[in-house]
Amino acid sequence: MDRDDHRPLVIAHRGAAGQAPENTPAAFRLAVEQGCDMIELDVQLSADEEIVVCHDFEADRTTNGSGLIREMTLEELRRLDAGAWFSPEYAGERIPTLREVFDLVPSSVGINIELKCSDNRIIHLLSSLIRACGRTESVVISSFDHRLLHRLKTASPDLRIGLLYSANLLDPVKLVRDFGLDVYSMHPHFALIEPEDIAALRANGQQVYPWTVNDPEAMKRLLARGVSGIITDYPDRLRRLAGSSIE
Ligand code: G3P
Ligand code: MG
Repeated sequence: MDRDDHRPLVIAHRGAAGQAPENTPAAFRLAVEQGCDMIELDVQLSADEEIVVCHDFEADRTTNGSGLIREMTLEELRRLDAGAWFSPEYAGERIPTLREVFDLVPSSVGINIELKCSDNRIIHLLSSLIRACGRTESVVISSFDHRLLHRLKTASPDLRIGLLYSANLLDPVKLVRDFGLDVYSMHPHFALIEPEDIAALRANGQQVYPWTVNDPEAMKRLLARGVSGIITDYPDRLRRLAGSSIE
């Protein structure tokens, strides 16, 4: 994941979500084919405590089902079609478990697991799964819920965590210091990160991964400002830029 300090990472948002249904095996496969360095995905807990990959709390937007993910069992979730809403060619895609994604994505590709659920049970379940699948070195766990991340990092100090935020913070380095535990990466909204903050965070030892950047001009601007990676729905676009202008 840190294979080259000088080349910013191409991070596929929800897989290659611009070209395939988000958070599905098809989107993850496409992202890998397009040469991404890392995949960002969102996780929730099902009613029977499976870690499943889905952005929304409800199944409604991205499947043919309806209702809260946390109130459905894995068996119920597996019956849902998670691809047809995007395009008929993706009919039959399913909501994957995180374990299935670990099996699908080569270990050379990092995984940024964004915790959408704030249920404390996910801390132990996630740590155990990451260890069982030998992914400790290749995942970063991020969340807007910094308290949950703090609890996770306290329980599992060897796991990498990243702070997500979507505000123009007065002092992001101070946020890291106040967190009090090791913060591997900062994940700002791309339009709300000042150039000097990128430099300050990097000097403080954090990776900086802005989200979600789809416009090539914005990508170029951020690359020139020294970000460590970019989260995008179009990993192929960023890959092309990375190939031509920053290597
Ligand atoms: O992790 C970056 C980004 O995914 C955060 O927002 O809503 O796309 O999960 P969202
Ligand atoms: Mg996300």
